[in-house]
Parts: sequence; structure tokens; C-alpha cells
Amino acid sequence: MQTSRRDVLKLAGATLASTAFPAIIIPNNAFAGRNAETLKVGLVGCGGRGSGAAMQALKADKNVVLHALADIFPERFETCLAGLQKVHGDKVQVSEERKFVGFDAYQRLIDSGVDVVLLATPPYFRPVHLAAAIKAGKHVFCEKPVAVDAPGIRSVLETAKLAKEKNLSLVSGFCWRFHEPKRAVFGKINEGAIGDVMAIYNTYNTNGAWSFPRQPGWTDMEFQLRNWMYYTWLAGDHIVEQAVHSLDMMSWAMGDVLPVSAIGTGGRQVRVDPLYGHIFDHFAITYNYANGAKGFHFSRQQENCERSYLVETFGTKGRAMADCSRNVHKVEGANPWQFSGVQNDMYQTEHNELFASIRSSTPINNGELMCNGTMLAIMGRMAAYTGKQITWQEAMNSNEKLGPESVNFDTLTPKIEVARPGFTPFF
Ligand SMILES: NC(=O)c1ccc[n+]([C@@H]2O[C@H](COP(=O)([O-])OP(=O)(O)OC[C@H]3O[C@@H](n4cnc5c(N)ncnc54)[C@H](O)[C@@H]3O)[C@@H](O)[C@H]2O)c1
Repeated sequence: MQTSRRDVLKLAGATLASTAFPAIIIPNNAFAGRNAETLKVGLVGCGGRGSGAAMQALKADKNVVLHALADIFPERFETCLAGLQKVHGDKVQVSEERKFVGFDAYQRLIDSGVDVVLLATPPYFRPVHLAAAIKAGKHVFCEKPVAVDAPGIRSVLETAKLAKEKNLSLVSGFCWRFHEPKRAVFGKINEGAIGDVMAIYNTYNTNGAWSFPRQPGWTDMEFQLRNWMYYTWLAGDHIVEQAVHSLDMMSWAMGDVLPVSAIGTGGRQVRVDPLYGHIFDHFAITYNYANGAKGFHFSRQQENCERSYLVETFGTKGRAMADCSRNVHKVEGANPWQFSGVQNDMYQTEHNELFASIRSSTPINNGELMCNGTMLAIMGRMAAYTGKQITWQEAMNSNEKLGPESVNFDTLTPKIEVARPGFTPFF
């Protein structure tokens, strides 16, 4: 094991973690609609984030139980359950027959009588899992990114429409959208505090992440699934899997207007061992907006380098800073301002708002937002991999499907080579 994923995330939470969070306040109308009903939660993907999401779901509402788990690796259940049982005791009601294992485990979980499904597998699986959950009438918490390629995004957009028709809540794991200091600073930008937005500089420069050395008996597929974040078809590359947060905030600063094109560069300079699959270790992308504004994105996963995780927005009347590592949120220029409100645990707020929406029968649908955020990152990857300028329309219409139609441990892994700008074609 190398640097753990927690260490990577520390970059994001360094200051937040040391800030005392206030008690969670559940809105007064939270138990209005379906108030007496026990809501049964099922978790698909019982790793680090999924276990965290289940913890938050159980805390978000008095009358919620964890009903079922699904994963392809059964040993994940025990670690996941141990932490949850310690904190939530009787709210954890996962019997042995509701620990579903395998590539169809998500469907069996959906069919097991759950009301809410938490989706936290590697993103390649998300479009299919989400479609199944919404089709079956379940409310969903859906981790980012929501897909790894344009066909996946188009599928999620269709599913999001269906969720709307069925009055189901679909809450996204773009967690900064639930962070009060970010809501405040991007709110200021959107209200015009820095004038017209001219440029947005955003970063996700971090160190490496974990990896699992190959064990005897693993097929190539099992090896890739255990090391999923190093395979573009499973994770989308780190610009899609991690740095997507900064791109989503770039979009927020632009009032969620979409860029017309992207051009950029990237490569695999330090992390070149085959253990690290075929993803890049750095990206630099420029996003061009119709009004002339530009978004400049830098992301890097390299050890012993300067770290940074921020979005700095420059406008005609000033500039605004949203620094995730240092928890700084301020505006300078004509309308100076600094966040001085109450800090919140954004991961908890995601679930508080999800469950409150279910109770009050006022569904939240983050579908389009989470597709656009993910697509910005996919578009950046396309520009860096091919070396070409890619328009939003080209990216959205792309027919490049990165993974196989379905997967099991014996499925042949897709033949994907490390991209070579100027040679890698755009589909
Ligand atoms: N919003 C955030 O801040 C944040 C933080 C961390 C991770 N994430 C996202 O959450 C997702 C999971 O990340 P993680 O760090 O928890 O990874 P992880 O490897 O710790 O967990 C993924 C789990 O999914 C399981 N899994 C894989 N394929 C599956 C399938 N087909 N069906 C069921 N289970 C399957 C794995 O065995 C594993 O237990 C990723 O999309 C990641 O980008 C979001």
C-alpha cells in the first residue's frame, strides 16, 4: 500500500477536520410526508466512501435503517459494518442473506425491499446501477463521477429524466455543492460581487493514491478491479475521478454555463510503473466560454510536489477565492467579503437534504448538474489524450465507450494503451 486515499483526501479536509462542526439541524418539515415510515437503505460499493455515505444516511434521519449491502468482494462487508455498528447500533439491520455479493449484487439489493440506494462503486458501473435503481422506484444518493465516457453520461441524463417523472430524489456526491462556505462564496460570485467573470484558475494537485500488488490467483480483471482508479475505463482517469470536484466548482463560478471547447495537455511523467495502469499523472486544460471567459485547470497526482486544491475566480470588479485545503472563502476588490458563517460537514448535509426531501415529498434532482460536472472532466481528458481542441458538442456526442458491455472476473480487460497526444484518435 502506498499513500492511502484518506491521505489524499486530507488535502481537502485538512482545515475542515479541525473545525468543530455544529449539531446537524434537520428541517422542521423533515418528517412531514412519509413521516412514520422506516426508510430502508441499501449500499452498493462498501469501500471507503460508501461506508462514509452509509454512516451519514443513518445519521440524517431518526427513522432510517441500513437494510442491505452489495459488493463484488465480500470481505468489504465486515470493515464497513464494524464502523457502522459501533456508531449506529440497532440501525444496522443487515442480515446475512442481505449481504449480496457479485456483479449482479446491485440488482438483488434493489429488489430486497430498500427505499433508498447509495451508489459508491467505481464510476464505470454507475450508469447501469443508477438506471436500475431509478427504474425500480428508489431514491438515490449517487457518488461522483457519474460515468467515465459520453455514452455513460447520456444514459445518466435519461435516467435523471425518469427520476423526475417518478418524483424520486437523486442527490449527487459533488459534496462541495453542499458546503456552506462554498455556497456562500459561489453565491457571491453568481450575484455579481466580482463583476463579470473573466477567468477561473482551478487546481487539484495532490500526491499519489493506494495500490494493491498483484496476488496469486487474481485474473487480470480482478487486478484491475482492485486497482480501479488507475484504469481509464473504470475510473475515467484522475481528472474525472478526483479533479472533477474543481471543475464542478469552476462551472459553479460560471453560473453553470457550459464551455464551448477545451484544449489541453497532460501525460504520465513520474508514475510510469505498470502497477499504475494507463492513466496520466498530470493534466493542464483550458476551457473556452462563449463570452470569452476562460477556465484554467491543473491537476496532478505526483509525490513530493506542491499541493493545491482551490478555485480562484477573476472578475471585472475583483476576485474570489475558494480554497478547499485551507478553508479560505473570500472576495477581494469592489465588494470585499470573507466567510464568517457556520461551518458544516458537507457529507452530512448531502444526506440531511436527501432524507428531508423524501420525508417532505419534495424531490431533489441533481441529475443534469452531476452529468455536466462529470462531462467537463471527460472533455478535458479527451482534449489532453488526443491533443485536439474538443467542442462541448463533440464531447457530448462522442461514441467512445471505454469499458466492456458487462464484466465478471473472467472478462478480458479492455485493450487500452496509455494515450499519446497527436496519435490517440478522438471517437
Ligand atoms: N465525494 C467525495 O468526496 C468522494 C470521496 C471518495 C470517493 N468518492 C467516489 O466514491 C466512489 C468509490 O470510491 P472509494 O474511495 O469508496 O473506493 P473503494 O475502492 O474504497 O470502494 C469501492 C467499492 O466498490 C466495490 N465494487 C466495485 N465494483 C463493484 C460492483 N460492480 N458492484 C458492487 N460493488 C463494487 C469495491 O469492491 C469496493 O468495496 C468513486 O466514484 C469515488 O470517486 C467520492
